Amino acid sequence: MKDFTANPYPYYEKLRAAGPVHTVRTDEFERIWLVVGYDEARAVLADQRFGKDWRGMPGAPAESDPIFLNMLELDAPHHTRLRKLVAREFTARRVEALRPRVQQITDELLDAMVPAGRADLVDALAFPLPMTVICELIGVPDLDRKAFRRLSNGIVTPVSPEQEQEAVRAMNAYLGELIEQKRRSPGDDLMSALVRARDEEGDGLSPDELVGMAFLLLVAGHETTVNLIANGVRALLDHPDQLAALRADPELLDGAVEEMLRYDGPVETATFRYPREQVEIGSRVVPAGDPVLVSLAGADHDPTRYPAPDAFDIRRDTQGHLAFGHGVHFCVGAPLARMEGRIAIRTLLERCPGLEADAEAAEFDWLPGLLIRGRRGLPVRW
Ligand code: HEM
Repeated sequence: MKDFTANPYPYYEKLRAAGPVHTVRTDEFERIWLVVGYDEARAVLADQRFGKDWRGMPGAPAESDPIFLNMLELDAPHHTRLRKLVAREFTARRVEALRPRVQQITDELLDAMVPAGRADLVDALAFPLPMTVICELIGVPDLDRKAFRRLSNGIVTPVSPEQEQEAVRAMNAYLGELIEQKRRSPGDDLMSALVRARDEEGDGLSPDELVGMAFLLLVAGHETTVNLIANGVRALLDHPDQLAALRADPELLDGAVEEMLRYDGPVETATFRYPREQVEIGSRVVPAGDPVLVSLAGADHDPTRYPAPDAFDIRRDTQGHLAFGHGVHFCVGAPLARMEGRIAIRTLLERCPGLEADAEAAEFDWLPGLLIRGRRGLPVRW
């Protein structure tokens, strides 16, 4: 399992060679359908016969915590309504307006980091950048980021069921209080706007829906982008020819970030989907209600779609990569994540011309679980 977490790609390759769809067993599930072929992965993500809402599934708990009442765990019409209310805040135009602030935060973080000559890049840049941006956007500028990171990690990359339960409880309490505060004294921020927001029927978000929305945005807003920056920089350091090419021609940056997403993206598998009826995928018959996991990492390394998929090549055509998902749940935050990733990597390379891995520092662990791919830290020097 340790080998798999450190480098799952050879395992996905072996599976894919045997077929695009497999059944696997985990500690939690007797049987999961794992999709590793590109065409089949894309098809499942776009197929409306697969639902996200696990609440009606056999064996699901009757009640669920408010933090899970979020669009990524709901289907139409609830999903459509929630997504519409927030999507307008994340259009390319709205995100563009954040550019000067994202650059300023990056500059300040690097001002603090550069004089030391060595740092853990996750601690110094990759974590605080997206966390600060999403906190300011949502309206929690003075959030205790260390405490929030611990809670968020406890839910997204849990170490034990007990620790996960405790983190869920604390997160619900924390966000419930935040929403109450926004109701009492609204500000000029996204959460205050969502407290006031009404859809076409004049319906607002319920208190639980607001907690679910705040949770999804805060967690999706930073657990992922931290690993885009850290996995991306690691890929560059592991491939000096690609790093040199990018330094020589900064025009390659946008393509390089797309290749970072494809080559070693932050989200290894999409969240669970459940077929509402019996469905055939890749000539396997999946019974209604069975959990299905789409391996985005597996799909984006399918050689029928991306020749020599294990090569990190910042000039390759990455079109159609699945790092942000696909279909109705395609990542709402993709324009923001791309902007943060591009600004962070461009500015880091400019400020640290001699950037290299810090071979003397101890290596950090890989994050546990199948959802998020990354290491807890990335020691670098310059
Ligand atoms: C590099 C960074 C990011 C990556 C790789 C990423 C990846 C993804 C993926 C794969 C999904 C779909 C999951 C599924 O279908 O099971 C998703 C959904 C989502 N992401 Fe992101 N994400 C990133 C950054 C962000 C940011 C910065 C935000 C918010 C500010 C965000 C907000 C969301 C939301 C709200 C959804 C749910 C959309 C829906 O259910 O309709 N993400 N993301």
